[in-house]
Amino acid sequence: MMFKVGKPVTGNDFFDRTKMITDVRRLIVDRQDFMMKAPRRYGKTSLIKHVLLDSKDPYLYLDLRRESRMENIAEQIIDFVFTQAGISGFFRRMKEGIAKFMINAKHEVTIKTEIFEYSVEFFSDEKKKPCELLIKALETAEQIATELNRHFIIIFDEFQDVSRFICEGNVLEMMRGTIQHHEHITYAFLGSIEHLMTDIFENKKSPFYNYCRKLKLPAFDIIELAPQLEMTFKKRQIIFEDSLDLMSVLQRLFGHPTNTMLVMQHIYYSALDKEIRLVTKQMIDNAYESAFNEVHDLIEQYVHELKGKKHHYDVLCRLARNEEQILTAQALNQVYKGLIEMGYIAHIKRGEYILNDGFLVEYAKGFNT
Ligand SMILES: Nc1ncnc2c1ncn2[C@@H]1O[C@H](COP(=O)(O)OP(=O)(O)OP(=O)(O)O)[C@@H](O)[C@H]1O
Ligand SMILES: [Mg+2]
Repeated sequence: MMFKVGKPVTGNDFFDRTKMITDVRRLIVDRQDFMMKAPRRYGKTSLIKHVLLDSKDPYLYLDLRRESRMENIAEQIIDFVFTQAGISGFFRRMKEGIAKFMINAKHEVTIKTEIFEYSVEFFSDEKKKPCELLIKALETAEQIATELNRHFIIIFDEFQDVSRFICEGNVLEMMRGTIQHHEHITYAFLGSIEHLMTDIFENKKSPFYNYCRKLKLPAFDIIELAPQLEMTFKKRQIIFEDSLDLMSVLQRLFGHPTNTMLVMQHIYYSALDKEIRLVTKQMIDNAYESAFNEVHDLIEQYVHELKGKKHHYDVLCRLARNEEQILTAQALNQVYKGLIEMGYIAHIKRGEYILNDGFLVEYAKGFNT
């Protein structure tokens, strides 16, 4: 399938992002912890998974949105690091029988047996508290990486969800206190709900304030993307009547990754239906419209969310329609800030803002209604 929509993409399905790939690779090689934030569906997970495809260092990818308990996260960390130390299935085997596990695994482990024995003792104790388990798992990870003289990478995706877990203390404080001493593990934190990520990493009162490098994943770079897309179509004998038509629809989409891929998929299918695989402006416009209709309900959800906040939808509509704003400068700035944090707009330069989602612009302008 060409032009995937929905799941994270890597390898041949992955487009654009040359600069971000270089930046992220460099940070990982230099063992510099970092965070990356972006609006939803911008490609954070795709980018990190794509970069890690050729990682020489073992990595663990954790998606906090998928987990319901802190204990599960601790287990995944322990399973991962003990696999690196020669013992796979740590938790499963431990639960099957501690005594047998102790005896058998002793011969498999490639590090000091004390670390192994101590870990079994610690993690089999049911009275341990959730964050205590997480912190011990992270400490064990560093200890094992040091013993093996290796470098591990741990990715926390949807990190803003960390505050959702039951924890006996301040989870951010506890984590920060531990991981700041880790020299053999690089941590990356990805997140999508912008104001929560900002609260964690940019609020002076947060334990993670100024803790690591902060990256922002921008929209697609259309200049880089356009020729890649054209080439991909060409490989399937699909040619654009005029390259500028492709360029202009990409601009109309504002480089929004998911919307762009959705429109490309619609173009691809409509071209397959034709005997002569020539993409005309009319086909592109139809694809755009079909894609817009497909995400219409989602856009309405956005609008509903925006209308729940004072002035937000009005300011956004005026921005979309290029109309003058009517709020006082101070009130307007407040709303702009809110819209940025919610992931709806981006700040371009002094006093200039742009909507992230071209379909939302169309909606605000009354497209197709
Ligand atoms: N580099 C890329 N090349 C091609 N398509 C991409 C790229 N980045 C994102 N996409 C498109 O965006 C979709 C969402 O990507 P991904 O799941 O990585 O985003 P995300 O920011 O992690 O989203 P979420 O906020 O839901 O976690 C993909 O299915 C794909 O259609
Ligand atoms: Mg994601």
